[in-house]
Amino acid sequence: MKNETLFGEDDGLCIPAVGPWTEDKFDLIRLYCQIFSTAMKKRTRVYIDLYAGSGLCRIESRSQVLLGSPLIALSVDAPFDRYIFSESNPERFSALQTRVAGAFSDKRTHLIEGGFEEHVEEICAAIPDNALVLCFVDPFDCNFDFRGLEKISESAKGVDFVCLLALQMDAKRNVQHYLQPNSKVDRMLGNITWRDRWNARSNPREDFAKFLAKEFADSMLGIGYLQTHLHQMKEVKTHDKNVPLYYLAMFSKHPTAFKLWEEVLKYSNPQRSLF
Ligand SMILES: C[S@@+](CC[C@H](N)C(=O)[O-])C[C@H]1O[C@@H](n2cnc3c(N)ncnc32)[C@H](O)[C@@H]1O
Repeated sequence: MKNETLFGEDDGLCIPAVGPWTEDKFDLIRLYCQIFSTAMKKRTRVYIDLYAGSGLCRIESRSQVLLGSPLIALSVDAPFDRYIFSESNPERFSALQTRVAGAFSDKRTHLIEGGFEEHVEEICAAIPDNALVLCFVDPFDCNFDFRGLEKISESAKGVDFVCLLALQMDAKRNVQHYLQPNSKVDRMLGNITWRDRWNARSNPREDFAKFLAKEFADSMLGIGYLQTHLHQMKEVKTHDKNVPLYYLAMFSKHPTAFKLWEEVLKYSNPQRSLF
């Protein structure tokens, strides 16, 4: 697999339009899947995509069709031993099912229709005990359940997460709303005490998105993950106005994963070549 965007073809099924910055996300997940799966080739490797999408998407204002994260992961040179995809939108799920059955029928896949939170047990049961797992968490916004990730993290010895933290896109635009009790930030961070720390912050101008990204990393630390620092997260911005959109962050219990992630951050610029 070369270090370049993977294209697909319009097959008449669901192809959502996405912003041009989505290619940055695909670069990163493609490189990380490639380097992770190759480096761990001797082990049983499982790829999980909790927010799988339809498998294809189209960059707004461009005619090209791009492979989405599940099909990217299915295309790596040293394929994973198993793939688990969950997708809540019925049209997207059905398109993904058809696409996986078409071009990737030789791969061992387990597709789940519905919100992943309602299927955590099924997801965990599909992971062999000794497996190394790469779990991609790619929601539209901050609306996801930290406890679901925690349960998945307990299902095997090594579960690494790559999470899209839609903090600049979502939380920062709704600061006052999220400071109210029972907000989706509580679910995302898995605690309600973050508000006390925000209210007690020493710098009144502290950036809300950065604060929440650090809080999320601390929540992961609390369930046994190594510390992921802000500078180890990739900040994705709009291409035209350079407006920050989200962070892509990797969480692991093993230092080796951080070395691989560092390599990927270095080479996720499309001009350079890792392979
Ligand atoms: C940002 S898109 C991710 C697309 C995909 N990862 C890709 O790179 O092409 C988020 C997807 O998650 C789906 N979704 C939203 N909430 C979900 C949930 N709780 N569980 C599973 N899928 C969900 C949406 O329908 C949407 O297709």
